[in-house]
Amino acid sequence: MNKHMKIAICTGGGDAPGLNAVIRAATLASIRRDWEIYGIRDGYNGLLMPEEYPDGGLVPLTPERVRGITHLGGTIIGTTNRGNPMKYPVKNFDGSFTEVDRLDELIRNFQLHNFDALISVGGDGSMAIAKALSDKGLWVVGVPKTIDNDLEKTVITFGFDTAVGFAVECLDRLHSTAAAHRRVMVVEVMGRYAGWIALEAGVAGSADIILIPEIPYDIQKVAAKIEERENRGRDFSIVVVAEGARPKDGTFSVISRETGRAERLGGVGEKVAAEIQELTGKEARTVVLGHLLRGGAPSRFDRLIALRFGAAAVRALSEDRRGVMVALDPPVVNYVPLEEATRRMKTVPLDCDTIHTAYDLGISFGE
Ligand code: F6P
Repeated sequence: MNKHMKIAICTGGGDAPGLNAVIRAATLASIRRDWEIYGIRDGYNGLLMPEEYPDGGLVPLTPERVRGITHLGGTIIGTTNRGNPMKYPVKNFDGSFTEVDRLDELIRNFQLHNFDALISVGGDGSMAIAKALSDKGLWVVGVPKTIDNDLEKTVITFGFDTAVGFAVECLDRLHSTAAAHRRVMVVEVMGRYAGWIALEAGVAGSADIILIPEIPYDIQKVAAKIEERENRGRDFSIVVVAEGARPKDGTFSVISRETGRAERLGGVGEKVAAEIQELTGKEARTVVLGHLLRGGAPSRFDRLIALRFGAAAVRALSEDRRGVMVALDPPVVNYVPLEEATRRMKTVPLDCDTIHTAYDLGISFGE
């Protein structure tokens, strides 16, 4: 397709290293085709509330604007995880919030600006919005982002490799201090309801115990593993806990539930550490890696995959592909229907090679 196009790109949900690389690749690939490309500020807020932005909520993307950003964390156009247009939180007079469906309004504003197509970069929430917009006739191509790696139909999402790399570096550092004090170090990592970060960082970072949402744990088994190590003269232990880990017969550890946003998980690391201390008598400390996993420069892998995804999204538009998500299907970048990509969350399969590797290394999942 050679027609001149005016396209928009947005980044939604929690940020992930590589967002700027996607923006740069999509911009350069568009300019090369003599298209115009604009960044929507803060998810869709730039189109839903333009009056809130001195620049009108849209950022004209040019080669100059995207110069030197491949290696930068964050996103130059901003993001939000309180801006789902299907459940937009609107403040009532009494200070409470009501969720409002603003999809049609968003599409109207999109058309008022004469945009032809949208590139939506985000995780499961953003892909569900992209699918809803596509179902209403908007021309959308999705790009899978999230440190959690919980999106179906792509082998990996960008951001995940950087998060795991940083977590492994932290585990390396924690080993020496744990050994010096003969302590149990409990390291809580993000990942929402999937254990990918905990599993891969835990195995690569030589954890002794890994607790993931896919395998509910028994704290007695966790304590038994620490005691068994103690009996072998291994008087310190490293426990990696996914924020979505939960005890058998227990529930997720939820920090807050707010209108218009996903529930926030956290705090399970502190609980596990307290219980370990109680059961084993060993001193336990908690480290929550949290947003450190999302910040900073993308790894070499994430830079490359983000650049490939951004360029592939523009190629998808050139090829008149609609309602698809760019996906890594090694060695190629492919396109999958948004319908398939949003059907379910990608959790850790219990029969995967990394789980078997963990068992063979003697790592416990607290079962
Ligand atoms: O989805 C990415 C993620 O970092 C999750 O791992 C985490 O639960 C969530 O976002 C935290 O989001 P925030 O603190 O930005 O609301």
